[in-house]
Amino acid sequence: MYLEFSLALFLFLLSVKVRTEEMAKGVIELDCRERYLAVQVHLNNGSEPHFKAIDTIGVHPITKEYGPGCGYTYELFCEIGIAELKASYFSCHTGNQGDVEFTFNFSVIMTDQHGEEATYAVSKACTLPLPWSPREVICEMDYMEVHVDGAVPHVSTGGTVMHQQWDDGISSAYTLASSGWQLIFLKEGQTSADLSLDEAREQGYRLHFTPGRVLLRMPYGKPLSHDSLVNGVPVEVVHAVLFSRQRWTVVIFDLVAACSKDVGFFDGTSLHWQVPIVMFPLSSHTDFETKNISIGVHGTLLDPQVTADRGYSLSTGKGMVDIGIPYGAEGGHRQSFVLNNTYWEFYLIYLYYEGVFMDSFHTENRHRHTKVLMTQSLPHVPITINQTVIEERAFTLYMGNFPSDVVLMTVTLNGHEFNLVEATQHGYTIVKAPHANGTHAYIIKVPFEDPMVLKSYFTEGVLQYLLSVNFTFNIMLQENYFFHLTSLKARIHDVYPPSFSGLCQEHGIVFKLAHEEFHHMWDITIGNNLLTEQYAVRQGYLMANDSQGILLDVPLFTPGYLYEDINLNQFFGTFEILSRDAKTLEIQQHSVKRCPFPTTELIECSTGGVMTVVASVVKSIPKADPQRTTLLDTTCKPKETDETRVLFEFDLTTCGTRMKVKNDLMIFENTIMFEQEPFPSHRPVITRDTTFRLAVQCSYPVEAVNMDVAFASSVPGRGSVGEARPYETALAKPIMLPAPEAVTTASVPITPRIKTPPTQRPAKFMRVHSHHSAKSQSSEPDYRRYKWRMIHS
Ligand SMILES: *[C@@H]1O[C@H](CO)[C@@H](O)[C@H](O)[C@H]1NC(C)=O
Ligand SMILES: *[C@@H]1O[C@H](CO)[C@@H](O)[C@H](O)[C@H]1NC(C)=O
Ligand SMILES: *[C@@H]1O[C@H](CO)[C@@H](O)[C@H](O)[C@H]1NC(C)=O
Ligand SMILES: *[C@@H]1O[C@H](CO)[C@@H](O)[C@H](O)[C@H]1NC(C)=O
Ligand SMILES: *[C@@H]1O[C@H](CO)[C@@H](O)[C@H](O)[C@H]1NC(C)=O
Ligand SMILES: *[C@@H]1O[C@H](CO)[C@@H](O)[C@H](O)[C@H]1NC(C)=O
Ligand SMILES: *[C@@H]1O[C@H](CO)[C@@H](O)[C@H](O)[C@H]1NC(C)=O
Ligand SMILES: *[C@@H]1O[C@H](CO)[C@@H](O)[C@H](O)[C@H]1NC(C)=O
Repeated sequence: MYLEFSLALFLFLLSVKVRTEEMAKGVIELDCRERYLAVQVHLNNGSEPHFKAIDTIGVHPITKEYGPGCGYTYELFCEIGIAELKASYFSCHTGNQGDVEFTFNFSVIMTDQHGEEATYAVSKACTLPLPWSPREVICEMDYMEVHVDGAVPHVSTGGTVMHQQWDDGISSAYTLASSGWQLIFLKEGQTSADLSLDEAREQGYRLHFTPGRVLLRMPYGKPLSHDSLVNGVPVEVVHAVLFSRQRWTVVIFDLVAACSKDVGFFDGTSLHWQVPIVMFPLSSHTDFETKNISIGVHGTLLDPQVTADRGYSLSTGKGMVDIGIPYGAEGGHRQSFVLNNTYWEFYLIYLYYEGVFMDSFHTENRHRHTKVLMTQSLPHVPITINQTVIEERAFTLYMGNFPSDVVLMTVTLNGHEFNLVEATQHGYTIVKAPHANGTHAYIIKVPFEDPMVLKSYFTEGVLQYLLSVNFTFNIMLQENYFFHLTSLKARIHDVYPPSFSGLCQEHGIVFKLAHEEFHHMWDITIGNNLLTEQYAVRQGYLMANDSQGILLDVPLFTPGYLYEDINLNQFFGTFEILSRDAKTLEIQQHSVKRCPFPTTELIECSTGGVMTVVASVVKSIPKADPQRTTLLDTTCKPKETDETRVLFEFDLTTCGTRMKVKNDLMIFENTIMFEQEPFPSHRPVITRDTTFRLAVQCSYPVEAVNMDVAFASSVPGRGSVGEARPYETALAKPIMLPAPEAVTTASVPITPRIKTPPTQRPAKFMRVHSHHSAKSQSSEPDYRRYKWRMIHS
């Protein structure tokens, strides 16, 4: 039975995890301060701790209601992750030996981040670090405390007391005094009824007699206290007179305390807080002597040199002390957070104040004050400065000024997000510019020609670059993001598409272009074909492209010409070079040159089905008389003639033109002929061999031709001129243009040469004009879009 009980006790002891002081090390720190013990608990993500005070009588949970009246103050310093219990040396459950040695015993109950509860037993013995002054007033966060030396009570001799209220108090005390201790409260000229200590306690006023001192403690705002204005500063005052008749004398303690109720203010640069120098309404200015005024933080006073170094200011005047703490000064805490995509910050400081002075009774008074001062939350809206210099051909943007805890995370350029490493890899410069005052800015540079920059030909001659940027920032050590949007624009004037100047030459047209900075934005094309070195060679053009510019020599009869206004003397050749937007493919510049050339021989087959042919009729045997030549339909006569040549222009559906289809080609053929006048008497037989015949033909791709109403082809036909032979032979051996490779000289061959057709189609066809917006980059001719000309010389 006994064993069983012991085991149960043992198990019980095991289950109650009371941590030793050893285990509490690093988590809980106890520190003997001048007027209290500080129990600091490092929260480490756990919840707020609970405290219990332990004394010989029992365990006393320190609650919000119970603590202030007993001299315990609890504060949470979120900024530094610490919860602190301040226990006054005269707190209720503290062991006291001679007002000099104090022993504290607490249980600290903590819940860690996993919800596990742990109890730590801590104790501490303190020796008073600073001797007590005859009178001490402590204004804590949630209570006021005044204590006086019990060995030197005010023994009234009816002497030099000055204040009428004090006189009234004393006379009441004399009248009322019995052998027990009693209290009366003086409030705005009124004297309360006398109260026993228990009655006072019910009203929130706790009286303690320590070995050498008499102490009164009460939470703020109790009914027997009152608010007053001292030298313009609001204060809460409590004035109690404690008295007792002891034999033939009445012992009186004057317990008066006042605490500044100034809430403080922020003037934009510093936090200010005011305390009256003359704390006690009963002291007069004249017999009041300030000994020392000092300030500190977190319940510890600081050396005046330290406070000066930190920029704290202390000024006295007009009966009050004004304390100034510059925003962000050491000792306080700057807190930042993000709300509604805006960075906000505020600053707070746990201020400690002490005024030491001699009062009208020539006794030393020590007055201490704890005060939390805080600015309102201040938003930080980033400023952006456009530092772009157009000549640098890059956007430069200044973004600032950020508090030190702000870091740039990502940059999104026109919708493409980059972290800082990626941004650097892409060639953007992002520089962090620190300022002397601790803030910093970012300077970002993005070249205009970067692929992320939107480039457009804004209006004629104006090139526009657009960049919209989304910066994402984070507050260091917090997952608190915010972003800032801005957009940049830059315009460069006098930017025009490449425009060639053309020069008519005997052999063709020569085009010239001087290179300019922005020409790369445009593609140079002939029709739908990009002008490249290879393309130029294939087409028989001569191109020179150096650092200065481009020279393009386009010999007559190479592909790309359009011929018009043909007569026996001359015709016009037109050649066009296009500049089209490399991105949209929109044609933005036509460089057109139209030149007259002397006519030798040529054939043209129009889309409307009209054949125009200029041919010499005297080079072959038999010679023909140009004026008397006809087509197969002998009523069709030349439009124009000279001594050697004829110009026929006729519709393909007339003049006896024959049509046949071969190899997907629709071939129209007619013959220029000249028959000798028959001389019936002398030469009755005319052989056909002596008759002049010249075959002329136009061929069109079958699918291009529509003959429903009248002849219409979507592309021009290809013409050829040949000696008239039996029909098939003529077709088999048409007279062709020399291959383009051969057309390198200025002169165009005049004598028709019989050649086998070159295999390269571009040699026979020339695309000369297009009115369509050409989107295809294919170098294959597109019959639906282009007209073709075949030229014979
Ligand atoms: C607090 O929690 C965070 C994440 O929840 C963790 O990174 C950090 O280490 C914790 N701090 C401590 C002191 O346990
Ligand atoms: C308080 O702690 C001290 C050690 O600092 C110890 O000697 C004393 O017995 C404790 N008192 C109580 C009531 O636990
Ligand atoms: C005033 O008090 C502060 C803080 O205790 C101390 O550092 C300073 O030396 C004192 N000045 C004088 C003149 O006593
Ligand atoms: C959030 O910010 C926007 C723009 O700055 C403002 O118009 C809006 O009122 C803000 N909303 C709140 C709840 O503060
Ligand atoms: C910090 O310095 C920068 C650069 O000199 C200035 O632009 C900014 O206004 C300063 N910020 C503060 C809060 O003084
Ligand atoms: C800017 O970036 C932030 C974070 O990536 C995003 O939440 C926000 O929607 C972006 N804003 C715009 C306008 O793209
Ligand atoms: C930025 O600076 C450039 C160069 O000075 C200027 O052309 C442009 O208009 C400015 N403004 C914006 C919004 O980009
Ligand atoms: C001319 O030379 C420049 C530089 O080599 C090149 O960028 C450009 O494409 C060339 N132009 C043509 C039409 O070939």
